[in-house]
Amino acid sequence: MYTEELTIKAAAAAAKREENIKKSVPRMTAEEKNELLAAYHPDHNKDQSKTVLIGKNKGDKVPSELWTLLHSKSRISGADIGAEPEISAEVLVIGGGGAGAAAAIEAARAGAKTVLVTKLRLGDANTMMAEGGIQAADKDNDSPVRHFIDAYGGGHYAAKKELLKKLVCEAPEAIMWLSKLGVEFDKTSDGEMITTHGGGTSRKRMHACKDYSGAEIMRTLRDEVLNLGVTVTDFTAAAEILLDGDGKAAGAALVNMETGKIFTAEAKTVIIATGGIGRLHCQGFPTSNHYGATADGLVMAYRAGAKLIYADTLQYHPTGAAYPGQIYGALVTEKVRSLGAKLVNADGEIFVHPLETRDTVSAAIIRECKERGKGVDTDLGCGVWLDTPMIDMINGEGTTEKRIPAMLRMYERCGIDIRKEPVLVYPTLHYQNGGIDISPDCSVTGIENLYAAGEVTGGIHGRNRLMGNSLLDVIVFGRTAGISAAEKSKTAKHGKPSSDHICRYEKELEKAGIDTGAVSPAFLPDYTGRK
Ligand code: FUM
Repeated sequence: MYTEELTIKAAAAAAKREENIKKSVPRMTAEEKNELLAAYHPDHNKDQSKTVLIGKNKGDKVPSELWTLLHSKSRISGADIGAEPEISAEVLVIGGGGAGAAAAIEAARAGAKTVLVTKLRLGDANTMMAEGGIQAADKDNDSPVRHFIDAYGGGHYAAKKELLKKLVCEAPEAIMWLSKLGVEFDKTSDGEMITTHGGGTSRKRMHACKDYSGAEIMRTLRDEVLNLGVTVTDFTAAAEILLDGDGKAAGAALVNMETGKIFTAEAKTVIIATGGIGRLHCQGFPTSNHYGATADGLVMAYRAGAKLIYADTLQYHPTGAAYPGQIYGALVTEKVRSLGAKLVNADGEIFVHPLETRDTVSAAIIRECKERGKGVDTDLGCGVWLDTPMIDMINGEGTTEKRIPAMLRMYERCGIDIRKEPVLVYPTLHYQNGGIDISPDCSVTGIENLYAAGEVTGGIHGRNRLMGNSLLDVIVFGRTAGISAAEKSKTAKHGKPSSDHICRYEKELEKAGIDTGAVSPAFLPDYTGRK
């Protein structure tokens, strides 16, 4: 429920609603965008990043929170990992989100002995929390080429073209694959897929399951993993990738999350699918991310010798809930804007086109709050209005309930009816644009037998991702990782799994005089003493 003061402030949005619905704000030019981003996007806040001192990215800047993890001691430092492995697999999948599950499905279907380990439970991941949808150019007026152009431009022309090409070309097949598995996409009464725009899309290609898209997809993937009889080991985190004497991946050091016991898995191939970084709360931002998004895969892969690409670029979703406190930072799906809701400032003025790309919209909101003094202040901070009552006014009564029931419910629990009142939003840390450098077959550059897929990887989206291309990426690249790893496992050979590279890494840290006093991967966020 809004306070009396906020109810009065919300009246400014209501007063101009009729007029704002008709108003269209022009898109920004490339120059205007660049200027805005340089001044207000958190990625450009250079004193919040630090230079990497050892390893493949030596000399590159990364967010300081990630820097600390990359320069900390290993959790298995000094541990005896020489005992017989407790797990033996042809394909070892680390991570129980969308990418890990899709990989496990394809590896198991290819006949490989597949084991999936996950530090929480299968499905406890960002995929489950995805709302707005999954992109695929499968309508007559669209094409993978258009999809490529939208995503390439939206990512500031920085995507690795071969990865992005694979993403867009395999998108229609990904939708078919999910449909056959049982995902219930939204359809018209005659069976045609309903698609909408997202920020930066030139065609309506967002396929959704209301605003529970990720939950519906994850539910289906999880069922299939279990149906196929994949061995799933819950509450088991990976602490390090183990390598043989030739530097090939040979397994992983694992930690039982309940007892803390360290043990090992031996595997012919290993897939890292551990997700993102949101729970590091970079620059103090709240996050829309799952509790387990603590950059574990980046740390393990980096120590094993992988290169990170665009690790300095993060996505701050423009519309995180900024009020009330119990949902602070939670995702308010972009679909709300796809359905017509506009962003307005404290004076009820529209200040940005609602479907500019995410980095631009976020920077515009931050500018409104910080520079122009046109944000709406609350006891939690600042925000702007996302004028949700516009949705039913534009599309007809019942649209909110039908198309975004999760949003309706989330706010209803807080005593706010989004059909009648606008919601307060501010950017929330949502996605890691960069990550482990991979090839189109998902092999990790430079490390044999090691694969990666999903948010932990980088290069697919460049320096900014469009809505709906992440659910797509976990399916396209998750499946590919499973297929590639299963195929490789038929011939892969490796020596004894060892953690010698960890000792070497720590010696380098020592030589460089670095002692952060911490250990990594983090596994879970530390909220001790945090407000
Ligand atoms: O706004 C959203 O629903 C988020 C989608 C995404 O990150 O792809």
